[in-house]
Amino acid sequence: MRISVVGCGYLGAVHAACMATLGHDVVGVDVDAGRVADLAAGRAPFYEPGLPELLAEAVAGGHLTFTTDVAAAAGADAHFLCVGTPQRADSYAADLTYVDAAFGALLPHVRPGSVVAGKSTVPVGTAAGLAAALADVEPSATLVWNPEFLREGFAVKDTLHPDRLVYGVPGGTAGQRAVETLDEVYARPIAEGTPRLVTDRPTAELVKVAANSFLATKISFINAMAELCEVAGGDVTQLADAIGLDERIGRRFLNAGLGFGGGCLPKDIRAFMARAEELHADPAVSFLREVDSINLRRRERMVDLTVGVLDGRPLAGARIAVLGAAFKPDSDDVRDSPALDVAARLQARSARVVVTDPQALANARLKEPHLQYAATVEEAVDGVDAVLVLTEWREYRELDPGKLFGLVAAPRVVDGRNALDPQAWRDAGWTYRALGRQ
Ligand code: UDX
Repeated sequence: MRISVVGCGYLGAVHAACMATLGHDVVGVDVDAGRVADLAAGRAPFYEPGLPELLAEAVAGGHLTFTTDVAAAAGADAHFLCVGTPQRADSYAADLTYVDAAFGALLPHVRPGSVVAGKSTVPVGTAAGLAAALADVEPSATLVWNPEFLREGFAVKDTLHPDRLVYGVPGGTAGQRAVETLDEVYARPIAEGTPRLVTDRPTAELVKVAANSFLATKISFINAMAELCEVAGGDVTQLADAIGLDERIGRRFLNAGLGFGGGCLPKDIRAFMARAEELHADPAVSFLREVDSINLRRRERMVDLTVGVLDGRPLAGARIAVLGAAFKPDSDDVRDSPALDVAARLQARSARVVVTDPQALANARLKEPHLQYAATVEEAVDGVDAVLVLTEWREYRELDPGKLFGLVAAPRVVDGRNALDPQAWRDAGWTYRALGRQ
């Protein structure tokens, strides 16, 4: 099939590369000329395991091109809208500027009978507005919502072999034809047995925010239990193991620690609250305010734990190594990164903070230019009064406490992700502290 992907950020670049890998002819469109140049040369503009190989192969094979000219989307059987919907600067609501701009630019190039599929996470009701605008210009084209559930770090796998496909389509024959088009696009995952749910557009829009709200709630639930373990003398990791063995609960997404960040979960739950308020249904999701608060409280608690581990030495002037800047491992994304936020909070209280990360240093420097950075763990921990593990990269989980012991000024470690083996660190002579345990 001929496919266009409008917006080649995280979601779009991965989607374009994966659609080409599934055998389609794909053109990716983006307003950022630098990004387009990178992608057209087969280079991934961000760190995502597996993506560079896919991009290089599809570009070299001639099935994937990138351009800043949206006219190149003309003639496609299916167009995918993949632009970002960040939080607005002045409220919790989603900023739909990019959706409106991309859709407006695409409209004159939509051919009769084709499908325009929204993949961005949007407030419920957005698709209805876009569908009306499309009907005015090209009544035989169909607007559908086809939310994306990819996780950073697993984006290629999540796109090529998704858990499920959700199509939000209008009723009648237009909807049936759109389903046939999408089935052709996703023929391979469907042949692998991927469940596919056909629903209406508002439900499809809601599925995405409901899924992310549930995940955020699960994380904040276990972090609320961590708060209780801290005051009652419990251990949240054992508590998570114990409740997670109940199949109805499940152990995944029950890792207590510094909480969630990134470009999706935080802004999606806020945008959901804002949209619910517009629909006069705010009580239905008012619990998300608490989910957000629990999440943000963990960051201040991490600062308190750091003060505590210093054992009387003032935080001001203390040398602190922060291991991790990305919002999670296997990503170079620092959007709403809890790790970087804690580093900045400590620095604001006059600690001398040095941050390291295997992949996210360039992005971290742009976001928090006043922090000090080091290329390696050894450099970061050299002569420090405390080491904080704030993103659970595998190389940090596997650190040898014995080797680091000789590099620091004082062997104190705070495990912000419950990622280290407390016994191993204590046996090596370290003072070990963690969120949600003693
Ligand atoms: C998320 C959703 O998982 C994905 O389906 C959606 O499409 C986009 O948003 P992503 O933001 O890439 O994906 O990361 P995810 O793996 O969900 O982690 C989100 C945050 O939660 C990270 O900061 C992570 O460190 C944190 N987290 C995750 C926890 O604190 N504890 C956990 O148990 C799991």
